[in-house]
Amino acid sequence: MTVTRQMLTLFHRAVGQFVPLDEFRRVLDSPKASVAKELAELEKLGFEIEAHPHWGFRLLQTPDRLMADDLQARFQPQTIGHQILVFEETASTNDVVEHLALKDSTEGAVVFAETQTRGRGRHGRVWTSPRGKGLWFSVLLRPRFPPPRITIAASVAVVRAVRDWCGVECRIKWPNDVIVDGKKLAGILTEVRGATAVLGLGVNVNCQPTDFPTNLQTVATSLEILTGRRHDRPALAARLLKELDRYYLQAAQNFDALSEEWAGLSTTLGKQLVLTIGTRRIEGQAFALDGNGALILRRDNGQTERIVGADVTVER
Ligand code: BTN
Repeated sequence: MTVTRQMLTLFHRAVGQFVPLDEFRRVLDSPKASVAKELAELEKLGFEIEAHPHWGFRLLQTPDRLMADDLQARFQPQTIGHQILVFEETASTNDVVEHLALKDSTEGAVVFAETQTRGRGRHGRVWTSPRGKGLWFSVLLRPRFPPPRITIAASVAVVRAVRDWCGVECRIKWPNDVIVDGKKLAGILTEVRGATAVLGLGVNVNCQPTDFPTNLQTVATSLEILTGRRHDRPALAARLLKELDRYYLQAAQNFDALSEEWAGLSTTLGKQLVLTIGTRRIEGQAFALDGNGALILRRDNGQTERIVGADVTVER
């Protein structure tokens, strides 16, 4: 573990309280001079630290920048987040994770980018990722359960993390949209290849309407637009990873409970829907998820159908 991460772990655990010098000495196992040097390094990275002659040091401000050591210092994962990489810029974090998978990286590796030049959504749609304004990241998974459950787990995790973070209540529009008042706050793209699944999430955090393409300005939203204030992205990122870790485990161990929680947040269940799957168009009412995470639709012709991926074009 890096020294930076050890120092930040102490600070984050203390949640705004002073950490005595001795505690830093203990974890660093080093003389006073090097603790001072490490603190100065943190300040160079943008962390604001207050020093007190008797009480020690406390963290006053963290920078609005995603850093692997900082994120990893904020929580202890079971699976998701034991390895974190952060890129200033990449084409698509889903592609980076796909490469990691080929190199046999372990399950739970996470890749963030401050901006993506070719961020994508479902069906090859463009996903706009303005620099430093959102959380654009992907997770390497090797699920031992049906992959559609991943998107279900991820959508519930996003809703819970956002609610705990700032009280904004989101709903889930099946299969992959997290929405507030009908506008999209976050999108999920799960891509499966063999035993590997890449879970990609885009969460609009500090985006302004003008950050979105003109045609999306009326249908997209962000936490800043919803609350009128900027949000601490690294803190929210850590919460999100923590919830993803928790719900990913639940997808494996107790999908019934997860499914019930999802149903309570869904805007899709119980509604009369028009679904398009490629060139097919089906109408009916969605009434449940099955054990695999597929949507069960009662068609207007009386038949029941399992739907795994579709565009919900109309909800009445
Ligand atoms: C959608 O709503 O259609 C899914 C959007 C998913 C966007 C995220 S941003 C991080 C990851 N990398 C990508 O290229 N896409 C996903």
